[in-house]
Amino acid sequence: MLIKNQQELLEQLLGSVNHEQEIWLAGYMQGRIGSFDAAASVCVSNVEKPPVMIYFATETGNSRGLSLQVMKAIKAAGYKVKNSAFNRLKAKDITPDTLTIFIVSTHGEGDPPESAVPFFEDIQSASDGLFSGLNYAVAGLGDSSYEIFCGAATDLDKELQRLGGKSFQASLLFDVDYASHSPAWIEKTVKSMNDLVGANTSITGETSSSSEEFVVRTGKGYTRLEPVKGVIKQIMNLNDIDSTRQTFHVEIEYEDNIVYTCGDAAGIMVPDEKNNGDSTPRLYSISSSPSYHENEIHLTVALAMHKNKNGSTGYGMCSKYLAELQEGDNIEFYIHQNQNFNLAPDDKDVIMIGPGTGVAPFRSFIYERSERGSDGRNWLFFGNQHMHCDFFYQAEWQEHLATEALHRVDLAFSRDQDHKIYVQDRLKEKAKDVMEWIDNGAILYLCGTRDPMSKDVDQALIDIIAAQKSFSSEEATDFLADLEENDRYLKDVY
Ligand SMILES: Cc1cc2nc3c(=O)[nH]c(=O)nc-3n(C[C@H](O)[C@H](O)[C@H](O)COP(=O)(O)OP(=O)(O)OC[C@H]3O[C@@H](n4cnc5c(N)ncnc54)[C@H](O)[C@@H]3O)c2cc1C
Ligand SMILES: Cc1cc2nc3c(=O)[nH]c(=O)nc-3n(C[C@H](O)[C@H](O)[C@H](O)COP(=O)(O)O)c2cc1C
Repeated sequence: MLIKNQQELLEQLLGSVNHEQEIWLAGYMQGRIGSFDAAASVCVSNVEKPPVMIYFATETGNSRGLSLQVMKAIKAAGYKVKNSAFNRLKAKDITPDTLTIFIVSTHGEGDPPESAVPFFEDIQSASDGLFSGLNYAVAGLGDSSYEIFCGAATDLDKELQRLGGKSFQASLLFDVDYASHSPAWIEKTVKSMNDLVGANTSITGETSSSSEEFVVRTGKGYTRLEPVKGVIKQIMNLNDIDSTRQTFHVEIEYEDNIVYTCGDAAGIMVPDEKNNGDSTPRLYSISSSPSYHENEIHLTVALAMHKNKNGSTGYGMCSKYLAELQEGDNIEFYIHQNQNFNLAPDDKDVIMIGPGTGVAPFRSFIYERSERGSDGRNWLFFGNQHMHCDFFYQAEWQEHLATEALHRVDLAFSRDQDHKIYVQDRLKEKAKDVMEWIDNGAILYLCGTRDPMSKDVDQALIDIIAAQKSFSSEEATDFLADLEENDRYLKDVY
C-alpha cells in the first residue's frame, strides 16, 4: 500500500500524463515487476548447491586435462568441486549427497585405464542399490577406430545404473577430436546440474580454455583425423648382428608447424596398401627433444615378431612397416599428447626407469634438459638382453655422462650371466640412494612394457620403500600410491 505522501505524488503524476504516457508507464511498471521476479530467481540461484566430485580415469592424461576444465567451469558456476584420479577409489567412497562426474578413457581392447581397474572390479561385485540417490554424469574418451568404442565409459554407466544411480544427463562418448567438442559438453553439464538443483547461475569468466598446465592441442597434426606428412631422414637398427631382436631408430623430418613436448607419443598411420584393413594408428614414444632436434621426431621401434601356426615368422603390422622404411620415404603421423608424462621442472632430480624401448622418452628428456641447462640430476636405469648387441644409444649416454647432462646410469643386461638381472634388481641394489633421491624430491619415471616389467618395478619400489623406511607392505604401497597421485611417480607403459 502507498502511504499518504506517495498517493498524493502519484495522483499528481497521473493527472499530468496523456494516454500514450499512461501506456508507457504501464509497460515500465511491468518491466520493474519483471525485474523483481528476476531478482527472486537470483535468490533461487543461491539455493544450497551440493558439492561436486569429478573422478577421472586416464592413461595418457586426456581425461585428466578435461576434468580440470570441467572443474574450472563448475567452480565458476558457484559449486564447491574437487577432482581426483580413480587410483584408490572404492565403491563405498561414492556418496549420494555429492553430484558426481566420471570422465573415463578406454584402453587395451575396450578396457578401463589400469589405474581404474580396481574400482571397476569393486563396483562389479557391489550389491544393487548401493548408489541409490546418487546423481551422476559420465563422459567417455575414446577412439572410434577401435572395435569397442568407449567401452569403459559405457560399462561404467551400466554399472552405476544397476547400483541405483541416476544420470542427470546422458553420457557423452567423445572421439579423438574431443577437444573441439568438450566446451559445449562442459556448458551443458553445468546447465544440467543447475536444472537438477534448481539454480540458474551461468558460468562466469573464461572456462573452456585449458588451464596453464594442460594445453590441449587441437587441429592438424594432433589427431589421426588430420595427420601431417614427414620424410624419413634416417633409419637404423639399434641392435647389433648377434641380437635376437631388431629395434629401429627412426628419424622423421617435417615442415608443418606442430608442437610436441617431452613425453608425447607419435601416432603412425600405416598406408592403406599395407594395413590389411586395420587403420588404427599405433603410438610410439617420441625419443627426440623438441628444443634440440628441431623439426624432427625420433622413434625407437621394436619390430614385433610372432610364430605363425605353420611355423613361419610373422611380424607386427606397424612395426614391420616402419622397419622397412628407407631414407627419403614419406610417412604420415600426428602428435598424441601425453599430459601424464611431462618432463619435471628444471630444478628437480629425476630417476628414469626405461628398459628396452622404454628408454625412448628418456633420450628425449636428457637432450631437452641438457639444452635447457636444467639443474636437476638425471639418473637412468636401462636394461635389455645383452650388453654387446642390445645397448641402445650407448655412445649417446656416454657423451651425456661426459658432459654431465646425465649423472648416473645403472644397467641390467638380463642374459649376460647365469641368473637373470633386470632393472628392478638394479633398483634394489641401489635402494638406499633411490630412497634418498625420492626423499629429496626426485620424480620417478617408468616407461616400457606393462607386463611383467612395470608390475615388477612397482613391486621393487614397494620393497625398497618398506625396507628403507621400516614400513609394512601396506604402508609402502600407500607411500608409492601417494607418489603416483602427486605426480612424483609417472608411468607410460604399454
Ligand atoms: C603410449 C604407447 C607408447 C608406445 N611406445 C612404443 C615405443 O616407443 N616403441 C615401440 O616399439 N612400441 C611402442 N608402443 C607399442 C606400439 O604402439 C605397437 O603396439 C607395437 O609396435 C606393435 O604394433 P604392430 O602394429 O607392429 O603389431 P600388431 O600387428 O598390432 O600386433 C600386435 C602383436 O601381436 C602379434 N601378432 C600379430 N598377428 C599375430 C598372429 N596372427 N598370431 C600371433 N601373434 C600375432 C605381433 O607380433 C605383435 O607382437 C607403444 C604403445 C603405446 C600405447
Ligand atoms: C593402446 C591404446 C588402446 C586404446 N583402445 C581403445 C579402445 O579399445 N576403445 C576406444 O574407444 N579407445 C581406445 N583408445 C583411445 C583412447 O581412449 C583415447 O586416445 C583417449 O583420448 C585417451 O584418453 P586418456 O589420455 O585420458 O587415457 C586406445 C588408445 C591407446 C593408446
